[in-house]
Amino acid sequence: MLKPEIRILEKLEDFRKCEAAQKTIWGRLSVASEVMLVTQKAGGAVLGAFARNELVGFVYALLARRHGQIIHWSHMMGVLPKYRSQGIGLQLKLAHRDFALSQGIKSICWTYDPLQSRNASLNLTKLKARVEEYVVDFYGQFPSIIEQGLPTDRFIVNWPIASKVVGRWLAAPRPTTGIPEVPAVGITARDSTGFLFNKNIDLGQREPRLRVEIPPNADLMRTKGPTLARRWRLQTRKIFLSYLSSGYHVDGFFTENRDSDDLRCFYVLRRS
Ligand SMILES: CC(C)(COP(=O)(O)OP(=O)(O)OC[C@H]1O[C@@H](n2cnc3c(N)ncnc32)[C@H](O)[C@@H]1OP(=O)(O)O)[C@@H](O)C(=O)NCCC(=O)NCCS
Repeated sequence: MLKPEIRILEKLEDFRKCEAAQKTIWGRLSVASEVMLVTQKAGGAVLGAFARNELVGFVYALLARRHGQIIHWSHMMGVLPKYRSQGIGLQLKLAHRDFALSQGIKSICWTYDPLQSRNASLNLTKLKARVEEYVVDFYGQFPSIIEQGLPTDRFIVNWPIASKVVGRWLAAPRPTTGIPEVPAVGITARDSTGFLFNKNIDLGQREPRLRVEIPPNADLMRTKGPTLARRWRLQTRKIFLSYLSSGYHVDGFFTENRDSDDLRCFYVLRRS
């Protein structure tokens, strides 16, 4: 695991580095330096991760309110592509948690794309954040090199950073690998180019636990198979909206074959 230096950012020159990182990560600027400065001063958080003096990742979070409680709403976290999957996202989140706790904040919320399996691994498996909502096309259409024109459907997650559950999990995380032995909502297969697709989906199941497979390579699919990527968006939208509105919640995220070309990724839904 790469060990970057993580610190709270306060200087304009560091915010400019976050602007450059946004352009590399999303292909566009979302939050300008002046807004970062104000956010930091007004109770939010901007943290940067530095390796060899280069800013390699950052978190940007607003002071906000949700369910009547003052929280941090983490609008953006990004790690430069060549530094991903080396634990920097996790370390940024943990540093943000420490800072937020020191400010009396008990929850950090954010959105993520349910089809981004790396984000799901980090958010649900490593951090123990909870999915609270599925929102259709949250940001509308926006030109992002990650989104590639897809509707911007998002899960809203809540990370109860002061809870015992999260504290215990971070102290002793348990492995979440292996295909969960529960009925599948979609039966998947590979197409001629090797991408996973749903042969059929079943929205009428009522078993206590169900699994929903997602592709492990959303970014590649969006560039090489945009039609299939859109189909995944629309199918998983139907699946999550249907099951979340009929008494199920997202109970976890599992991966199998982590270090092979056959990485498989599953959400588990549990009937409440
Ligand atoms: C999301 C993001 C910030 C995560 O940062 P990161 O440094 O890559 O995250 P970490 O390395 O701490 O954790 C990622 C985990 O996912 C795992 N992972 C990697 N590729 C994966 C895949 N295709 N499917 C499932 N899990 C995967 C990693 O192995 C790691 O778990 P591990 O430590 O148990 O091995 C980064 O990927 C990113 O900048 N993405 C683009 C922007 C974005 O989506 N931001 C978030 C929403 S604003």
